[in-house]
Amino acid sequence: MAEVTVKIYWDAARVAEIRVRRGATLRSALLEAGFSPYQGRFRQLNCKGLGLCGSCKVLVAENSQLWERRSCQIRCFNDLEIKVQ
Ligand code: FES
Repeated sequence: MAEVTVKIYWDAARVAEIRVRRGATLRSALLEAGFSPYQGRFRQLNCKGLGLCGSCKVLVAENSQLWERRSCQIRCFNDLEIKVQ
């Protein structure tokens, strides 16, 4: 399969699904689909995916728990469920 599905939650009522090229970084997939992992001034002031600033954090659902992860350091090899903060 060349694509995986990323389900994005903002809160209990708002959800979206995007199809992502397998192996793409979550950060780039979100930005290409018109979503942002950044908040406020960090939309402009960030390390552009180098893994240095920590401003691209999202909550990733794994094993029935939410884990805070830098989206630029996640490669999408399997379907994901995330919460944008
Ligand atoms: S964009 Fe800076 S840590 Fe991810």
